[in-house]
Amino acid sequence: MATAALFEPLTLRGVTFRNRVWAAPMCQYSILAKDGVPRDWHLMHLGQLAAGGAGLVVAEASAVSPEGRITDADTGIWNDEQASAWARIVDFIHSQGAVAGIQLAHAGRKASTWPAWGHDEHGTVPAGAGGWQTVSASAVSFPGYDPPVALDAAGIRDVVDDFAAAAARAIGAGFDLVEIHAAHGYLLHQFLSPLSNRRTDEYGGSLENRARLLLAVVRAVRDAIGPDHPLFVRFSATDYAPGGWNEDDTATVAGWAAAAGADFFDISSGGNVTGVSIPLGPGYQVPLARHVKTEADVPVSAVGLITTPAQAEQIVASGQADAIMLGRELLRDPHFPLRAAHELGVSLDYWPPQYLRARWPED
Ligand SMILES: Cc1cc2nc3c(=O)[nH]c(=O)nc-3n(C[C@H](O)[C@H](O)[C@H](O)COP(=O)(O)O)c2cc1C
Repeated sequence: MATAALFEPLTLRGVTFRNRVWAAPMCQYSILAKDGVPRDWHLMHLGQLAAGGAGLVVAEASAVSPEGRITDADTGIWNDEQASAWARIVDFIHSQGAVAGIQLAHAGRKASTWPAWGHDEHGTVPAGAGGWQTVSASAVSFPGYDPPVALDAAGIRDVVDDFAAAAARAIGAGFDLVEIHAAHGYLLHQFLSPLSNRRTDEYGGSLENRARLLLAVVRAVRDAIGPDHPLFVRFSATDYAPGGWNEDDTATVAGWAAAAGADFFDISSGGNVTGVSIPLGPGYQVPLARHVKTEADVPVSAVGLITTPAQAEQIVASGQADAIMLGRELLRDPHFPLRAAHELGVSLDYWPPQYLRARWPED
């Protein structure tokens, strides 16, 4: 049988991933009880991705505090009830041989929005309809959303503490790693980008100042999770806007974050401003991942319109990224990794035994 870069194991700190085909975090907006507690849908959704052969399954953006939720149907990791519900799901992911991660998130000025479906409304949910006051680096609205309140020093300290407490709870629930969400125009990205951060204190202005909150979160999360668990950061590598956050800033801050205790960088793009042109196409974010990997000398994953085994293999084999993450392709085919191995001629020893009769005869 052949070998493939995509199916080479990877070890970070105390954790070995069986391959480099990973499941990207994907919000399910499915907590109808509005309590942030993951339920059967999450067990089924994340469980099938693990059974499908992914090396790592990253649970969706889960809020570190109630006001950090994108919608009131988001999952959370700010209390023990949520943590014990996650523990059941993590156990199942582990039973299928995958590494379990969770994305820790605060939506900032993009919080308190309507769930993705079942509503005609867009933008911020008003207080009278269950919404809440949003916060950000500055009182600058995301287009079409209500104005946020700029966080003061105590508010910033609370955000750092909330990320650290959520990370400790995630590890307590059995997750092998946590990913800090600093992408897609959410709170940490709002601090990083000069388009959303107009502060004049030590959290605004220079790149160093704009990165201060993220680096404080990285240090606090590293302290909370100890030395054995990998810490990922997801960046949007560019705002695609003049005067905005860009791939050189991302590489610089990734280097600083690595020195502060982060191990791995999940490179996405966009989400902080509207009206920009994004060069969508197969693997369109791969050059951004390669840039961060090369300039900061850190391991990275690439994500975004990666849909075929050959494409995924080429990205990893050519050294552009150390792993790939898949979003929508895994929703279409949760067993993509098993199929990818077959197409690349790789024999896997981690088919679920219940499914062995479906294995391709030549594997
Ligand atoms: C249903 C859905 C939910 C998503 N939720 C998240 C999320 O929770 N956190 C995040 O960083 N990105 C999220 N994304 C973005 C994906 O992680 C991924 O970066 C994006 O879909 C591009 O990859 P793809 O072309 O393979 O889908 C989501 C995407 C989808 C389709």
